[in-house]
Parts: sequence; C-alpha cells; structure tokens
Amino acid sequence: MDKLVIHGPTKLNGEVIISGAKNAAVALLPATLLVDGICTINNLPNISDVKIYCDILEQLGAKITWVTKNEITIDTRNITCTEAPLEQTSKFRASYYLIGSLLGRCKHVQVGLPGGCNLGARPIDQHIKGFEALGATVDVSQGKITAYADELVGTSIYMDVVSVGATINVMLASVLAKGTTVIENPAKEPHIVDVANFLNTMGADIRGAGTDSIKINGVEKLHGNCTYSVVPDQIEAGTFMLAAVATQGDITLKNCVPEHLDCITAKIIEMGANVTIDRDSIRVCCNKRPEKANIKTLPYPGFPTDLQPQIGVCLSIANGTSIINESIWESRFQYTAELNKMGAKIIDQGKSAVFEGVDTLIGSPVYATDLRAGAALIIAGVTANGETSLYNIEHIDRGYENIEEKFRKLGANITRVHED
Ligand code: UD1
Repeated sequence: MDKLVIHGPTKLNGEVIISGAKNAAVALLPATLLVDGICTINNLPNISDVKIYCDILEQLGAKITWVTKNEITIDTRNITCTEAPLEQTSKFRASYYLIGSLLGRCKHVQVGLPGGCNLGARPIDQHIKGFEALGATVDVSQGKITAYADELVGTSIYMDVVSVGATINVMLASVLAKGTTVIENPAKEPHIVDVANFLNTMGADIRGAGTDSIKINGVEKLHGNCTYSVVPDQIEAGTFMLAAVATQGDITLKNCVPEHLDCITAKIIEMGANVTIDRDSIRVCCNKRPEKANIKTLPYPGFPTDLQPQIGVCLSIANGTSIINESIWESRFQYTAELNKMGAKIIDQGKSAVFEGVDTLIGSPVYATDLRAGAALIIAGVTANGETSLYNIEHIDRGYENIEEKFRKLGANITRVHED
C-alpha cells in the first residue's frame, strides 16, 4: 500500500499540463466495442481505471497496442465474448458502459453490478429504462446485470433524472439501433459531447449532444481507421484551479478547455482569485486568503459535484463561514471528517455542510475516502502546517495521472512512500 507524505505549507506556482478526461476515457474505451475496425485514441490519461478497462476489453476479444503511455490502438473486429469478468466489472462504476456497447453490437451482455466510489446510493434505473425502451430485456440478480434483445429499435426516451451514465449508455445502445432515438432531459457534461464526437468520427449520426435533446439516427455499422483525442479533463483542471486558490498560489493550466470551467472561474473570482483566460490555458492567481462562498452542486453547466471536496478545502480556510449544498450524491461529505482532523471546523449536515473558515490547517494522518476526496486532501496537505500522511491513495490513482509529480512540479513537497 502506498501513501503520500506532504510537508506544507507551500504556495503552488508554475505550469501544469492537464491530461485527458478520466470520465470521457472510461466511456470511449467501451464505445470502441461498437466499431468494426481499428481506432487510435490519444490524450488518454494514464490512470488505473483506463488500464483496468483495457484489460477487460482484451478479455472480450479486443486487441490493444500501447503506442505511447497516452495513446493506444484498439482492434475490435473480433469480439469473442459478451460476458465481462464479474469481479473486475463490479469494482468500478464505468463498467456499466459495457452494457450499452455490447448490447448495441452483439445484442447480449453480462456484467457485474457496477461499484465505484462510495458516494451513497447509485441507482441505474434510468439506464435500464432506456435499454428496455429500445427493446432489450434486462435482468438484475445475484450481483450481475444481463441484457439481451432480438433487435434494438429507436424510440423517444425521457430521463427522469439528469444522469451522465444513463445518457451515455443509451447513446451507446442506440447508435446501431434501427431508426431514430431521442433522449430528452439528457446530461450535458463535456464528456457526453466527447463520446458523441468520437462515435460520429467513427460513422455514427448523433446530433444535439450537450443540448436539451439528443437525436441518434441508427446506422448499420461504425468503421475504424480513425484517430480520436480525448477531451481535456474538466475535473483535473478544476482541481488545480482550486489548488491555486487554497494555497494562495499562481498556477497556469495548459491543455484545458476554458469554457468547460466557466462556473469554477466565476466562483473563484467571487472568492478573490484573479483568472486570466487564453484559448486553451487558464492562469489562476490568488494572493490573499480566499473569501467565503456558498456552493450548490448541479449537473453541467452547474458547479460539478466532483469538485465539491476540492472547493471544500478552500472554504475550510476561507475568510468567513460558507455553506455547500450537495444535490447529486447523498454521502459526499465524508472527507469533512478528515479535514476536521487537520483542524478544520466543518459541520456535516447530510445534504449540506457548514464551513467555518479557520486560519490554517495542521498536517495530520488522513484517509482518502474516495477519488475526489483524495485530491482534496492533497490540496489540504499542501496548505497545512507540518506533515500530512495521506492513506488509501489507490482511489486517487484511479483518476489522476501522475498526481504527485504534477504537484511536485508546482513546488509541493510531496513524496510517495511504499508501505507493506
Ligand atoms: C458520473 C461520474 C461521476 C460524477 C457524476 C455526476 C463517470 C464515470 N462518473 O457518475 O464522477 O460524480 O457523473 O456528475 O462519469 N441517478 C438515478 N438513476 C440512474 C442514474 C443516476 O437516480 O439510473 C441519480 C444518481 O443517484 C445521482 C444523479 O442521478 O443522484 C446523477 O448520477 P449520474 O449522473 O448518473 O452519475 P454517474 O454517471 O454514476
């Protein structure tokens, strides 16, 4: 088991290159199963979720070649199996995309019930509703999901809740379906658009991704021989923007999409940061203690729940008292108990939390309760006085490429230590 040891406080300073988006990558990889050919994907984040996905795809018959650490070719001409390994698929969330992809291509699939970060209940009823509307039979029992169909036929599907996963999954299942599928009330996150762009590059006919209605005209076949570049990671970019605010630093993010970060930019300006935006870079400079702010997490283009713990660190040391309302996940404040060990004054009220800003955090042993909480605790460790040991960092490795190296280049005193 590795841990991160951080000595603070440090004002972070310099440039960081943002990797490809984790949440796009874990959808694009299964999407290749719909292609009858070879695709090249670059700007792929080198993270453990991607490696696990590649391993699963190989077990289904795909041939994967690593060209560089951030580029692969995937040959999906011979898919030999539609039953994904149960143990591996039940360990992470995005394995549910195998349902849409394999159902779309082979009309049959079996996967383990998806796991992932423990953020409270994570139902998949909207995914199932979409598959059934397209004509599939879906059975959930004994820790696995089985879905099959004679044929899939396009229809109109209204999502009762705005769901990233269900929107992408229904898109995947309907690309090769007969006729037209319309998804009403879809999610609009950048990675929804990225998956649609990827599929369109391969010959799909998807219109309206990123808007209130997505129309998918089914096509006979998706072709390969295309190269696709994963969209820059909105959440990794936001993490470093908030790291600049928390540490009163000066960080320039390269390879990001500034408009994907509009709501974070607006919020940190409200908190006293200076933000300079260029075509594909953003500079965040904060030369004073951040001001209090109230946050409500919302689907895109609202403030992302996946940046809630990171902004929570900023608010824990802000000037004044702030409130965060979490409207997406029921257990997303577990990290506040860890921050309180570091001297923060946060009251977790379930759906909301009250942050009474303290002058400084004190280095302590803390545990990453999930992926984004782990990133937040790195930021907390960099701002804190003294030594922070951060455990359970395998959560962080799932979604951030080379995170300690990126923080170190910005001046952080951070070391990965291997412990038996
Ligand atoms: C994705 C992201 C995750 C992020 C979340 C919200 C991936 C791999 N993960 O998760 O990092 O935190 O979006 O931005 O991209 N819901 C239902 N029924 C469903 C599906 C969802 O009620 O069938 C509810 C959920 O309980 C939650 C809300 O809808 O309250 C949003 O969930 P969803 O957007 O589906 O999250 P994920 O796709 O699992």
